[in-house]
Amino acid sequence: MRNLLITGGAGFIGSNFLRYMLEQYPHYRFVVYDVLNYRGNLDNLRDLDGHPRYLAFVRGDICDRPAVEKVVREYDVDTIVNFAAETHVDRSIIDADAFIRTDVYGTYVLLEVVKDLRLERLHHVSTDEVYGEVLDGSSVETDKLEARSPYAASKAGAELLCQAYHTTYNVPVTVTRGANNIGPYQYPENVVPLFITNAIDDLPLPVYGDGRQVRPYQYVLDHCQGIDVVLHHGTPGEAYNVGPDQETVNLDMTYLLLDLLGKPRSLIQFVTDRPGHDRRYSLNSDKLKALGWEPAHTFEQALEKTVRWYEANEWWWRKIKSGEYKEWYRRNYEDRAALVRELRADDAG
Ligand code: DAU
Repeated sequence: MRNLLITGGAGFIGSNFLRYMLEQYPHYRFVVYDVLNYRGNLDNLRDLDGHPRYLAFVRGDICDRPAVEKVVREYDVDTIVNFAAETHVDRSIIDADAFIRTDVYGTYVLLEVVKDLRLERLHHVSTDEVYGEVLDGSSVETDKLEARSPYAASKAGAELLCQAYHTTYNVPVTVTRGANNIGPYQYPENVVPLFITNAIDDLPLPVYGDGRQVRPYQYVLDHCQGIDVVLHHGTPGEAYNVGPDQETVNLDMTYLLLDLLGKPRSLIQFVTDRPGHDRRYSLNSDKLKALGWEPAHTFEQALEKTVRWYEANEWWWRKIKSGEYKEWYRRNYEDRAALVRELRADDAG
């Protein structure tokens, strides 16, 4: 492994991964390939501009096979790490089209390129959502995939392609299934950066349903380290869970976040739930731990670091929370909040 192509490298986890890998491996060189959709953002990589081993940023779509092949040949790429995906569950519920295209077809294109150009490895970044909601116990890698949202189904489809390409063509592909990430550069539509930035501005925090859903939130660099361990010590054809043992109830996360910011709980606004909302995710990451991985942050440490980063980096998120973002916010939240007001009025009447 020497020349790595990071697809989706201008997104949240991809950009953190690049920063992490540049520090860890002084002999590796990197190219970022990203279509720059609404979440892809060159500001996420700004501090790395001019780094001698961050060779290039190439704007392109993973669905565009000739363009992917071109960048692979041009930079003598031997390894692809795929972060490129549509990722937001609520958007997939409103319109799944881009999810099926990028997450499924795009992964197929990468598998074809790795097969035909005989690359050393494709590492595909997947999600714990492929298991569906977990009411008891914790998911292990051999569990059935029972995706319940269009987003989760698109990621499960991509994983099945990875498995099939390994079985049929012996393509050297590994997969990681990550739990919820938090940390710097996360687009403020995910719950933690949304709540932090709303709270800083004294805006309501829209908690879905009763807020008792459970997520194993992890610090993004712990996730990046898990991917690194699988890249170097994982077995092709295998999938690995990457998540902490600690699980957090959304409302508890919200209380702690408000406390860290010194903001009142009265900012919490309960709104209509997400359709098909998975109640709980829980990962057993023993398989990865057996390869030497251990998360370095507790949830409390991860949340505190995240809150402080958003407090210190308003230049990054204020730009985002205008334009397309405002339109999305209206589409996703307007009816939800109105519906809750109506239900309350009914109850009172
Ligand atoms: O589990 C890994 C997954 O985590 C990734 O595969 C997804 O790409 C990523 O978007 C994330 O999915 P979630 O649906 O768990 O994350 P989200 O930040 O959208 O929501 C986290 C929890 O917070 C979930 O229980 C829904 C709730 N929530 C979310 C939003 C946006 C709210 O209560 N209010 C909100 O406004």
